Amino acid sequence: MCGIVGYIGHKQAYNILIQGLYRLEYRGYDSAGMALIKNNGILNVYKSKGKVANLEDEISGKDYEGTIGIAHTRWATHGIPNNTNAHPHTSQNGAIAIVHNGTIENYNILKEALIRHGYTFSSETDTEVLVQLIEYIKIKNKCTLFEAVREALKQVIGAYAIAVIEKDNPNVIIAARKSSPLIIGVGDDETFIASDATPIVGFTDKVIYLKDNEIAVINRNAPLQISSIENNEPSQLDIQELKMNVAQLEKGGYDTFMLKEIFEQANTLKDCIRGRISDNYEQIILSGVLENKDKFINANRIVIVACGTSWHAALIGKRLIQEMCLLPVEVEYASEFRYGNPFITNHDIVIAISQSGETADTLAAVQLAKSKGAFVYGICNVVGASIPRNTDSGTYIHVGPEIGVASTKAFTGQVTVLTLLALCAGQIRKTVKKETVQEIAKGLYQMPEIIQDVFKLDETIRNLSHTFTYARNFLYLGRGYNYPTALEGALKLKEISYIHAEGYPAAEIKHGPIALIDKEMPSVIIAPNDSLYDKIVSNVQQVKARGGFVIAITNKGNTAMKQIADYCLEIPEVPECLTPIVVSVPLQLLAYYIAIYKGQDVDRPRNLAKSVTVE
Ligand code: AGP
Ligand code: GLU
Repeated sequence: MCGIVGYIGHKQAYNILIQGLYRLEYRGYDSAGMALIKNNGILNVYKSKGKVANLEDEISGKDYEGTIGIAHTRWATHGIPNNTNAHPHTSQNGAIAIVHNGTIENYNILKEALIRHGYTFSSETDTEVLVQLIEYIKIKNKCTLFEAVREALKQVIGAYAIAVIEKDNPNVIIAARKSSPLIIGVGDDETFIASDATPIVGFTDKVIYLKDNEIAVINRNAPLQISSIENNEPSQLDIQELKMNVAQLEKGGYDTFMLKEIFEQANTLKDCIRGRISDNYEQIILSGVLENKDKFINANRIVIVACGTSWHAALIGKRLIQEMCLLPVEVEYASEFRYGNPFITNHDIVIAISQSGETADTLAAVQLAKSKGAFVYGICNVVGASIPRNTDSGTYIHVGPEIGVASTKAFTGQVTVLTLLALCAGQIRKTVKKETVQEIAKGLYQMPEIIQDVFKLDETIRNLSHTFTYARNFLYLGRGYNYPTALEGALKLKEISYIHAEGYPAAEIKHGPIALIDKEMPSVIIAPNDSLYDKIVSNVQQVKARGGFVIAITNKGNTAMKQIADYCLEIPEVPECLTPIVVSVPLQLLAYYIAIYKGQDVDRPRNLAKSVTVE
């Protein structure tokens, strides 16, 4: 959830750490902190509530010398965001400092035991318990920091990625992980640690993804050593190439990452389909599916698990797969699936969708599905993340790093991959017509151009958005393929503008939500020219008849809709199953500009964090 960055090498750590924190800020921004060791055994710890810029101000003019340090940007789970609860946390004697991502579930029991041994606590965090435990073990066992950390972790129940340093030893960082990501960047005479690759980019392209239950000793005078926490069994160093560049992590002239990512979609969709559609549009080449033909031919059922926006993509995937593969598909929130005693057999395929590939609930659902014998397929964006490493096969969406907390380009990438998957599996199962494949594949191929055309709505949407800053509630209505798109539009608005918004299947409003409609409640109604168009026109009429304000998203040249709706956003016509991709763009822009007019920080919406690696 939070961001961790650490450095040990020949350079001053501060600059690398502060830049790393800025790059990680999208993961959590309740507070930030840094600990640096000077060679003469002085440990300087700085913390600040709020964003990384506050920490930078706090440190400015102070002593930040040191070639070893750890830093953190927090997304609070235990204790409110304030200076005391900010990381790094130090042990009682001030000798050990820790940064932690995750939750220590048995922190209360450990804390009580430590209190009995005379320990006092200044913060409300679970993390402080861990650092005190490390100190207690180190003193009691007269052991090294590595041994004390390993021993402490054996007593911990929960999820963690940690980095630990010790004031009298400016040569060593100990790092470990369980159910929370941690990456080691291997440079020349310098080593980086980070909770994702972003702080490492530009410094080295050699990375090691620490595996669950591994602990690393990063010693500037000795080779890197990784072993298992449980029995100290040495692990092989699996150095991989990091394929990310600095430009991908910058705003590229846009005011925010979210706006940049919205406007990247023409290109990201190109990257997403590259090499996956044959020249004549007749073949879909999705290696994860083609290499597992038998699984897709023999499957009885597909279950898709995901959270948030990825769950909305899953709902679209359900329709696509059912239509193209004639297979029953169920969609579950990963958090419900994992505790729902799901009925899964070895004839099921479980598809896990996750942008980050680190969402704790989705990862747990993957592990549960595997334990029940299912063939598990991942659809992820972040290469090398935990979910793609834990699934049997999968497809990357390849839309590049998504930094904005509100997911945009990942959603359209996920829907694109689900479309390819449905077509590819349908071909293998011989359940989809050649003409259908050709029509949809061609539509996908043309999508980057179509999206470019949709961007022309930018100014119109910007002007329109201004009029909605008053709104306290919004309704988003859609049918068929665009019911999930309506859910996604509503989520975007909620996340970044803090306006309450509900997504609903348009036909369902008459069973309740229609009671909410008045002139203060705008409704966004998705009404492309598809098989349900006539039905949705009636739904628009129903809203208008009750004095509601309607913004309709419809196809170009639809003059009839202009007569009924208050506002029409016109999009190009595409095959029905591809409309969610096209419709998403105006929905994203609408949410974006309303939030901007309301003065919100769209890249760092309150209370949220990009990847949810805690339960
Ligand atoms: C999207 O705008 C959200 N911030 C959130 O719902 C997100 O989609 C969810 O947390 C799942 O993340 P994942 O795709 O990385 O697993
Ligand atoms: N549980 C820790 C805390 O609340 C870490 C949270 C995080 O991952 O940022 O401080």
